[in-house]
Amino acid sequence: MAPSLAGREVLLGVSGGVAAYKAASLARGLKKLGADVQVILTGGATRFVQPAQFEALTGRRCYTDTFSDVERIVHVEVARRADVAIFAPATTNLIAKFAAGIADDLVTSTFTCLTVPTVIAPAMHTEMWLHPATQAAVRLLAERGATIVGPGEGELAGGDVGPGRLEDEDVLLEAVLRAAGRADHPLSGRRVVVTAGGTRERLDPVRFLSNRSTGKMGYAIAEAAAAVGATVDLVAAPTALADPPGVTTTHVESALDMHAAVMALAPAADVIVKAAAVSDFRPVAVSDQKLKKDAWTGSGAEGDGVTLELARNPDILADLGRRDDIDAVLVGFAAETTDVESYGRGKLESKGADLIVVNDVSQSDAGFGVDTNRVVILGRDGFRRAVDLASKRAVADVILDLAAERLRG
Ligand code: CTP
Repeated sequence: MAPSLAGREVLLGVSGGVAAYKAASLARGLKKLGADVQVILTGGATRFVQPAQFEALTGRRCYTDTFSDVERIVHVEVARRADVAIFAPATTNLIAKFAAGIADDLVTSTFTCLTVPTVIAPAMHTEMWLHPATQAAVRLLAERGATIVGPGEGELAGGDVGPGRLEDEDVLLEAVLRAAGRADHPLSGRRVVVTAGGTRERLDPVRFLSNRSTGKMGYAIAEAAAAVGATVDLVAAPTALADPPGVTTTHVESALDMHAAVMALAPAADVIVKAAAVSDFRPVAVSDQKLKKDAWTGSGAEGDGVTLELARNPDILADLGRRDDIDAVLVGFAAETTDVESYGRGKLESKGADLIVVNDVSQSDAGFGVDTNRVVILGRDGFRRAVDLASKRAVADVILDLAAERLRG
């Protein structure tokens, strides 16, 4: 079936750049895909294009002014009606205002009311695009979940060449289709909590106990959840990975820190995925000062050993499974080296999880540190799905689809 926006309300915001003339063709392209298109223009855009042009193309009134129909509160009305929004072209000025939350005209006021997937297509002169303020604003908008498309590279107004062109129409339409697809996903607008990485249990200011987890699987799940429009909290034990865009990341160190962070987020969550490798034990005594080997081992003689006394950490997943005030779908992981499926099924039962993703971590192309994984996903009532070698991101998509099928409420 050809991709379609049939029955979808697309909001098209146009700002005052030379490329504004291309927005008319974009409006037509959106209509051709079956969308109902609502166009709004900034004052700057009206210097380049006319509302009448968009009204003829969309069959809808084109708004330009917050104060023209005050009784209808147009910015709130058009934002609420939209299923997806695209701002093309988005000038430096528009992007800076969006990032700062300034709402001083119809287009910026509408933006601050939007809660739907949003595409922003910058177009401006290369110098403006490369300015640190523009770059910082674009990064911030991406972190908050907007899809930034372009700018493309090529000939700009005045004959200059460089990055700054409005992306081609087919690329923009593709981005809108993808954004609309996100709005369709059952996890769109739901709250997903993901844990990742290996916790560290301190012994003294320079030493800790930990494990080989690199956080890649958990980060892939957080990114995949954000990509389908979920509101994502990532609780991350130390990793070398950059915070994923569009995700709220809380950094923790120990199992006890992670326990506290997850319990605080859990009551509001719809899905909790516990991909973290949580240390089962922590040193009973944590020294404020670096432990000197002679004092620590007692005699100071070479060959002397030391016995560490360890205390059991709480099992975060099992605690979640026991709590009545938590309605979330619970997804755990099981890292095993032998009898992987039977240990996995045991953890499913003992921890009260809805799904357990079983990982044979003795394989070199699956488990710790690599970008691929091979898992078996087990669920209640004997559910079993094997996922053969795939990227961690692809495995993440499968896990989220299975979790979405089990959503409550
Ligand atoms: N888990 C947890 N809290 C712990 C230990 C584990 O929440 N203190 C979670 C992990 O995040 C994972 C699942 O429980 O989702 C299974 O973790 P795993 O390390 O495979 O198993 P353990 O429960 O630690 O059991 P064992 O070490 O005996 O295999």
